[in-house]
Amino acid sequence: MKMKFIKPISFFVATLVVISCSQKIVQPRVAFAQKTTLESRVDSVMKLMTLEEKIGQLNQYNGFWEITGPSPKEGQAAKKYDDLKKGLVGSMLNVKGVKDVKALQKIAVEETRLGIPLLFGFDVIHGYKTISPIPLAEAASWDLVAIKKSAEIAAEEAAAVGLNWTFAPMVDVARDARWGRVMEGSGEDPYLGSLIAVARVQGFQGTDLKARNTILACAKHFAGYAFAESGRDYNTVDVGESTLQNIIFPPFKAAADAGVRTFMNSFNELNGIPATGNSYLQRQILKGDWGFDGFVVSDWGSINEMIAHGYAKDSKQAAEIAINAGSDMDMESSAYVEYLATLVKEGKVKEATIDDAARRILRVKFELGLFDNPYLYCDENYERETVGKAAFQEGVLDIAKKSIVLLKNEKELLPLKKSGQKIVVIGALANDKTSPLGSWRIAADDNSAVSLLEGLKKYEGNQITYVKGADVAVGRTEFVWETKINTTDKSGFAEAITAAKGADVVIMSLGEHGLQSGEGRSRTEIGLPGVQQELLEAVYMVNKNVVLVLNNGRPLTIPWAADNIPAIIEGWQLGTQSGNAIAQVLYGDYNPSGKLPMTFPRNVGQLPLYYNYKNTGRPVMNEPESVFWSHYIDEKNTPVYPFGYGLSYTKFEYSNLKLSSNTFNAESEIEVSVNVKNIGKYSGKEVVQLYIRDLIASVTRPVKELKGFEMIELQPNEEKEVVFKINKKTIEFFTANGKWESEDGDFKVFVGSSSADTLEKDFTYLNN
Ligand code: NOJ
Repeated sequence: MKMKFIKPISFFVATLVVISCSQKIVQPRVAFAQKTTLESRVDSVMKLMTLEEKIGQLNQYNGFWEITGPSPKEGQAAKKYDDLKKGLVGSMLNVKGVKDVKALQKIAVEETRLGIPLLFGFDVIHGYKTISPIPLAEAASWDLVAIKKSAEIAAEEAAAVGLNWTFAPMVDVARDARWGRVMEGSGEDPYLGSLIAVARVQGFQGTDLKARNTILACAKHFAGYAFAESGRDYNTVDVGESTLQNIIFPPFKAAADAGVRTFMNSFNELNGIPATGNSYLQRQILKGDWGFDGFVVSDWGSINEMIAHGYAKDSKQAAEIAINAGSDMDMESSAYVEYLATLVKEGKVKEATIDDAARRILRVKFELGLFDNPYLYCDENYERETVGKAAFQEGVLDIAKKSIVLLKNEKELLPLKKSGQKIVVIGALANDKTSPLGSWRIAADDNSAVSLLEGLKKYEGNQITYVKGADVAVGRTEFVWETKINTTDKSGFAEAITAAKGADVVIMSLGEHGLQSGEGRSRTEIGLPGVQQELLEAVYMVNKNVVLVLNNGRPLTIPWAADNIPAIIEGWQLGTQSGNAIAQVLYGDYNPSGKLPMTFPRNVGQLPLYYNYKNTGRPVMNEPESVFWSHYIDEKNTPVYPFGYGLSYTKFEYSNLKLSSNTFNAESEIEVSVNVKNIGKYSGKEVVQLYIRDLIASVTRPVKELKGFEMIELQPNEEKEVVFKINKKTIEFFTANGKWESEDGDFKVFVGSSSADTLEKDFTYLNN
């Protein structure tokens, strides 16, 4: 379905304008008990509420300015406004800016019977107005401190515009690059994904939710969303328990353990049951096994979507299924506010179920401090001073540089010489100030990113010429519109080829427009979109000194470039400071240190392709000895670039992998040490990675699993010993007994610079 902007109906706007003129801070109309414990404060509100008001807390409406899902029906604004006044709304999403937030909060606080404040949610995925790299790019930094800092910046800026809740982080482990939303997560690994989930939750929520610079985080999409069949968004998901427990759940569990206060369920069905109506996921695992006491919000309209799934006959039954399965808040289906009261009267939903959901939401509102000051986040002066401030720009530049991955560097083409060079820059993306913001940039202004061309021009010693070559996207490129790929227009090729001929170096910025990945943007071909591959080859024919800067939201299939182009940089969609970050890396002012968080396949037909695969009964890596092996007859099994891969301008040498012992038990541990030496000529950072393999187990285990990493910085000729510890926890997994435990047996440990470049040793574990 096409999505479009909807204009608020005029009386709604007029009302808001009148209300927002008043700056007076007003306390809730009913003086709720100031009891000491959180639970007794929640009780004090619950006691006052009618069933309808409790249900109102479970209702979330879109704010009508921007939409992030299929268009709601026209004419709903009046009904929503009415519901708001009656206390039948607990939260709103997509309301932007203090003025509008305050206006709506005033209605909730001053015009409803109880004056319970609203939650304001928004997709602050990688920044509000100041945009950080897309989450997949940030994951490539493997720098948890920088990732946390990026979430802190996003939280501070979002809170300054009146928001108190972000629908992030997305912690879906993703193995299929056709799925457009891989850009929004941390890639394919549950261990790295878990650590990043924690960093992001801590960054958004801080240590005090009442503080002015923190907001609620939301672990999403629970669960299995990234495992959509054939990588097509919203498609069916069918995965077994071992994959669920060992691969999909860990980052969610880590987020829950880190104290994330909200979860979002997902659009997909999981093994025949839509996640929104899935009580195994929401009641048994999340609220049961993991003891989560925050609340679960549905995804946009996902309660009503259970009708199309073939799981509910109408909206009323969908509401019944969803609430009973543990979905606490209804985002934009209106099913709860319409039907829950009747369902309670009919005995299909217990009042205790409504109470539990309402309590969860009120608890979080208390934790945010909204009952003490519903306008905590509503200060227009502070908003003005805070949004886009210089410290944010420095922060997002820092993480942008750290997110860049050097994929290839032959002939020492990089770093670029700072003077005397004729540099020709080719590619529409090089001159694009919107695309680097990615697809989740609902609040950022068009053209607010630093383009690569602008970044390069800050280095004045070289002569820079720009030629577009070809468009990447055609048609409209506003946030909600589909962006088409240019597959035909090659009219700019000739000019690009002529310009390239005389250059010392050609920098080609190619890849996906920011709106060609993200929600609803699955692709069946994941090479350079459209005519760009042809442009690359044509330019390379006349000048071999090509530096390819990839800008993309997912792994791309670039086997030809990997074989032919001498220097390749993975420059993702890096946000507001994109062009500065890439230029600083190209010129060597920052030595690239990123490592891929997702495998880059050779061919889309290999997908899903990931490093932690199972061996099969007929394993093969490269050329099989005969036909009867697990392989393709037209392509290798290996990727172009593996998980964990990334180069530096310097070189690191690994040696002397040692174990303190080759056996351990439940009470002991092994130290694994390795020496890493900088044998190149630049100082640089390296992410030293540790993997294990459990050789024989009650459920087959992957050929490699990341279990540790450390980032070190070395000067030329400097050598460091890096020490990891392996203990019982390291080898635990969800066994055939249906629980997380360790099993006796033989293991391999691997340490190296990527999942495919490691030293290895053996060890044995015995529980006793
Ligand atoms: C749908 C997306 O799946 C979800 O991630 C997002 O938070 C909501 N829309 C709200 O925009």
